[in-house]
Amino acid sequence: MLLESSTNFSKEIMKKPQIVLTEQKISFAGNDYLGLSRDERLIEALYQSAKEYGISPTSSRWGLGWNTIFEEMEKNLTEFFGTEDATFFGIAFIGGLIYFSAMREKHDTVFCDATCHVNLFKGMSAAGYTVHKYRHLDVAHLEELLETHAVKNPIIATDGLWGISGEIPPILEISNLAKKYNAELLIDDAHGVFGVGCRGRGVAEHCGIKPEDATILGSMSKALGCNGGFLVGREELVDLFRSNEVTSGTSASAVPIIGACVKAMQIIKDEPELKDNLYKNAKRMRVALNSKGISTVDENSPIIGMVLKDEFEAAKLSEHLYKYDIAIPYFKYASEPRHELLRGIAKSCYTEQELLLFEKAIKEF
Ligand SMILES: Cc1ncc(COP(=O)(O)O)c(C=O)c1O
Repeated sequence: MLLESSTNFSKEIMKKPQIVLTEQKISFAGNDYLGLSRDERLIEALYQSAKEYGISPTSSRWGLGWNTIFEEMEKNLTEFFGTEDATFFGIAFIGGLIYFSAMREKHDTVFCDATCHVNLFKGMSAAGYTVHKYRHLDVAHLEELLETHAVKNPIIATDGLWGISGEIPPILEISNLAKKYNAELLIDDAHGVFGVGCRGRGVAEHCGIKPEDATILGSMSKALGCNGGFLVGREELVDLFRSNEVTSGTSASAVPIIGACVKAMQIIKDEPELKDNLYKNAKRMRVALNSKGISTVDENSPIIGMVLKDEFEAAKLSEHLYKYDIAIPYFKYASEPRHELLRGIAKSCYTEQELLLFEKAIKEF
């Protein structure tokens, strides 16, 4: 099922995606990095957990909507990320809201990357923090702000793998600053977890920081191919997050999807070739683009941020690829100021034929 389009090369394409899913097209977009979202084993696990626990708990954790499969999920996450504790909640997008609300009793100031994901900004603003934004990925500017404002116990917040461009932030340097200035470090690594880092622990692992040096927000809806959000980190912080009324008192999590998440995490552990293929395919796509003179944002990322001359050229490439049955919609992402970027992704499940088609289409652009 992929895209059908009326992709008139017009200004309309800049505003909203003009492409919708149909059967014949091949998606080179989305976030299904490991190709798990249609894996039969996950679908079977989903079915089995629906049979065992029902389709919905119909209530929050505090209201009897909690059961053993959630416990299993949290235990698995703790082991997978090597942290003291982990908690699961219904949808990753509310992660920022819960985190900043939970942390508000101990902190009042956040230093964050200027182009962090919107869910973090929503969370900071709802909880009434003083916010200092540092220039995108600019560690020197972060330090300058930390020095100037000299806040006693701040939070530093950053995305992990950047969702549109595919950039990997300098997490080691940021973590060193967090230690130096006695700050809590929060990484929203929705796109990096399960696909980046040698064990799939995300950009924190990729950049060589220890599990205890950061709190990580993650999503199950990207590399894991499922749905839901989670937080991993020190027990004291995870507990604070877990006991927040939004997580535990006012929202019911979907049960069946947890069965699929547990299965998907097992598959990732057992089949390291999924990640190997992801990076092999990403490399191949980059080589094709770079040989055509199209530069790409980050060498180590499963997200292929293609840098075109301008937004028109980016939209034109999207249209061109579509003629070859390759679907990469172009639109202006709210969080990405560089509109000349066309965002594609590598997946571990591309066939040789699909990759050859991508190479041919790029060559003929
Ligand atoms: C950095 C970041 N955080 C959180 C989310 C929300 O994830 P979900 O769609 O699983 O709710 C996204 C979604 O793209 C994201 O890019």
